[in-house]
Amino acid sequence: MLFAQLAAKNATKPMTNTIFVGKVYLRFDELPSTNDHARELLAKSKPPDGTVIRAASQSAGRGQYGSHWISEPGANLTLSVIFYPRFLPVAAQFRLSEAVALAVRDTVAHPPSTVDRPPSTVRIKWPNDIYIGARKTAGILIQNSLNDNHLQSSVVGIGLNVNQLQFPESAPNATSLALAAGAPFDLEAVAETLLIQIERRYLQLKSGAIAALRDEYQAHLLGRGEERQFIDKHGQQFAGTIQGVSEDGRLLLDTAGGEVLFDVKAIQML
Ligand code: BTN
Repeated sequence: MLFAQLAAKNATKPMTNTIFVGKVYLRFDELPSTNDHARELLAKSKPPDGTVIRAASQSAGRGQYGSHWISEPGANLTLSVIFYPRFLPVAAQFRLSEAVALAVRDTVAHPPSTVDRPPSTVRIKWPNDIYIGARKTAGILIQNSLNDNHLQSSVVGIGLNVNQLQFPESAPNATSLALAAGAPFDLEAVAETLLIQIERRYLQLKSGAIAALRDEYQAHLLGRGEERQFIDKHGQQFAGTIQGVSEDGRLLLDTAGGEVLFDVKAIQML
């Protein structure tokens, strides 16, 4: 089916100050999940590169590892961007995660605001959660489809807590830009900054500036050089000093048994 037919009813004002991200901007009052919607569009049509799907409310927002993403309707940003990163080999897919994490980090660290109080330290918790101090303010869920040895399409889903002031007991560690700054933010202005930053980082990735992205990602890594407690998939707790993240996205820890690389599914930071 033609993408234009599928999208016509929900297309809204396109972004003006980007090159391609958000030129097709589909906005909904409610969707089950913007990632699911993006994947459905990809299955039926060929949305343009940089298509944005945004919902004021999600009834079944997806989080990492099968968890749910819960967000107060209308208070925050829940959106997905469709890319075609065919230039990325499957083995290098973590680079996209690095680029997106940096874009969200930059947005949280330098949000458009009338309050002259930038948030305290903003860090990336491996692999791609964004923290203000010790609290999570944004999560990223990237779903790739592969073709031979390369990425064919990517749905980059971002949940960024902007104006939510109270969080459910199930998210005791959550915060928002407004909670951290002590004042509300203009949601549309934050959305615009976020999409500009995503485009900037994506183009940086596409141009091959791999080392610069890697270095910046490592520089903002939460707990780097510090000893932290982890739990492995057998429920064993252990201590490790975070050394950095490998090119394929594994966490390098200095443990009692020496230096070990851990896959994202193998351990959890406590
Ligand atoms: C995480 O668990 O930290 C990742 C959360 C990602 C949530 C966003 S909200 C917009 C997009 N649509 C979804 O269903 N999930 C992502």
